[in-house]
Amino acid sequence: MAATRIDGKALAAKLKEQVREEAAALPRKPGLAVILVGDDPASRVYVTSKRKDCEECGFYSEEYALPAGTTQKSLLELVEELNGRENIDGILVQLPLPKGLDEREVLLAIDPAKDVDCFHPYNVGQLTIGAPVFQPCTPGGVMEMLQEYHIDPAGKRCVVLGRSNIVGKPMALLLLHANGTVAVCHSKTPDLKELAASADILVSAVGRTGLVTADMVKEGAVVIDVAMNRNEAGKLCGDVCFEEAAEKAAYITPVPGGVGPMTRAMLMKNTLTAAKLHQGVK
Ligand code: GUN
Repeated sequence: MAATRIDGKALAAKLKEQVREEAAALPRKPGLAVILVGDDPASRVYVTSKRKDCEECGFYSEEYALPAGTTQKSLLELVEELNGRENIDGILVQLPLPKGLDEREVLLAIDPAKDVDCFHPYNVGQLTIGAPVFQPCTPGGVMEMLQEYHIDPAGKRCVVLGRSNIVGKPMALLLLHANGTVAVCHSKTPDLKELAASADILVSAVGRTGLVTADMVKEGAVVIDVAMNRNEAGKLCGDVCFEEAAEKAAYITPVPGGVGPMTRAMLMKNTLTAAKLHQGVK
């Protein structure tokens, strides 16, 4: 059986169009500030694409490219300044921060009502109790994909590979809230292969090319590949051996063109949510 390819690019375009229409009806344009510290090339690419997304959605955007030597104090001052700005609804600090900067303190400084990444402990708490203000972008994007393809996690065995704060943990929470039975696997999980092979919905967010082989995919499973790796040839790829996994899966996401565009679209959706919140629009 050949799997259905989940088209993240098309769904993201649809979602951004909806966001653009809703944003156009607001009294004031949604505004997003993106802070990039240092010169990590991958982060640079992400930040540039966020600016493009803002233009497409009709948002106001500001970009702060700070040198790697930026002090904690000046970064916190910038966050504080943006917290107080009326034309800025969302603040995103691109991670990882260069060594020497305290990521946790920076994320804690962002006004939770402007925390469009859903990284502030207040928003993580709201998410944990099932009352999120913002959706964590990547896991939220995955849930949108499942919904679009009428895949209901209720009663399904869901296995998440990876336990990061950005993807693995919030992904597990969203699947749990959708009534899935969830296992989270990590580097100390002894039977990771067997657990993966038991999954109705398998989400891989590890960052290791070739990790998910066909023997780890159950016949008829849904396979979601969150990773963005580069192979030896420098080509963008995920964790999943796509061709062989697609032979067994019912649904599968490609890399690129799968989860990546959905993450970006969810950031736009969260910025719209923040703008509505700030403008008292339901
Ligand atoms: N670095 C990798 N993914 C993300 C993300 O979703 N948000 C931010 N701020 N940094 C990241």
